[in-house]
Amino acid sequence: MTPTPLQQLIVERIQREGPLTFAEYMRMALYEPEYGYYMTRPTRIGFEGADFYTSTDVSSVFFANCVGRQLHQWWDKLKRPSPFVVLEQGAGRGDLARGVQAWARQQTPDFHTALDYRLEDISAGQDGREPVKNESREARLPEPTRSPQRTSSNSNGAAPAPSVVLSNELVDAFPIHIVETHGSRLYEIYIDVRAGRLCEVRGEPGTAEVASYLDRYHIPWTQFGDGWRAEINLDAMRWIQRTAHLLQRGYILTIDYGDKARALYTRYRRHGTLACYFQHQMNERPLARPGEQDITAHVNFSALIDEGRRQGLHLHKFTTQRLWLESLGIQEELEQRRSNDFSESIIDRASDRGQVALLKWYDLRQRVVALTDPAGMGNFKVLILRR
Ligand SMILES: C[S@@+](CC[C@H](N)C(=O)[O-])C[C@H]1O[C@@H](n2cnc3c(N)ncnc32)[C@H](O)[C@@H]1O
Repeated sequence: MTPTPLQQLIVERIQREGPLTFAEYMRMALYEPEYGYYMTRPTRIGFEGADFYTSTDVSSVFFANCVGRQLHQWWDKLKRPSPFVVLEQGAGRGDLARGVQAWARQQTPDFHTALDYRLEDISAGQDGREPVKNESREARLPEPTRSPQRTSSNSNGAAPAPSVVLSNELVDAFPIHIVETHGSRLYEIYIDVRAGRLCEVRGEPGTAEVASYLDRYHIPWTQFGDGWRAEINLDAMRWIQRTAHLLQRGYILTIDYGDKARALYTRYRRHGTLACYFQHQMNERPLARPGEQDITAHVNFSALIDEGRRQGLHLHKFTTQRLWLESLGIQEELEQRRSNDFSESIIDRASDRGQVALLKWYDLRQRVVALTDPAGMGNFKVLILRR
């Protein structure tokens, strides 16, 4: 098969520089200008014609309303600043922003007036979407190959300090190093070229940071046997450093797959957590189709918490999406919708109208179940750090 331009670029770089760390390979696959997965077109998020879906696709209303209530609580706690700058990083199509603003407009006009909701996303072509009020698109991150996140600035170069920086499923996209155990030693996985094809090879850890990473979290990896693998997301730590610097007073909220280190790096998860998404099919072949599929790995939240603390942040909450959404009233809101819009008197099961209402109600209820399912999205982790 003829290699794609990105495959060609990767091969040429390896021929020039030698094997790449998996992180460097992943950075090219996702962020290489013109060819990387996030650089060529709007990210394919959603159901039809997409690669994966997120909580906002499951229910932009319920999810956004909970985020709206959370932001409102923090606005109150921070003594109602105006403007109240919220920066959403990796905002995708801006659905969450639109949902939060709609909730604020309906429920709390004074909060809505204060809310200055800004968006950042690295992805190409997101701009073609319906604009979001107060949206700041100049905040896109133009140097992905060097840094996964850059912050926004206004036309004077002065960035208004956000009170909240939030992200949903952003950190799992950052390039990861992969390590593997053999004979009680830790190796790093590199990407090389053999017979014109990309392949994995084992080598010494490329840096001391990679070599010592698991020991920082007291992971007994020497006991896990040959072939045990783990991912190391060093960019996540750089990201929290940069994000902490954006915040003078307020909160960082980040939601993602993952767990604390001791729950993430266990002997039972022998193959790590790397996953690729292409047209809603999950696969574990990151070397196939570079630039055409998403590549992700679970997030080590211990690293974010520890690095956040080093940056002077405090751990405010670490919980699951299920518990967090429930603490923000998702079940009460569902119950309210049932009694307002789908009460027995409205759902006359014998009529066509009643049948349609019943189906709508099942759909709504199912969306809340999906967002809170302990075996699915409900098990996403929610980390809140504060300064
Ligand atoms: C899984 S999607 C989530 C989108 C949105 N937050 C949602 O919940 O629907 C990840 C988003 O992060 C963006 N992204 C990936 N890497 C990024 C980076 N290094 N900096 C900023 N945005 C990034 C992608 O373009 C994509 O829109």
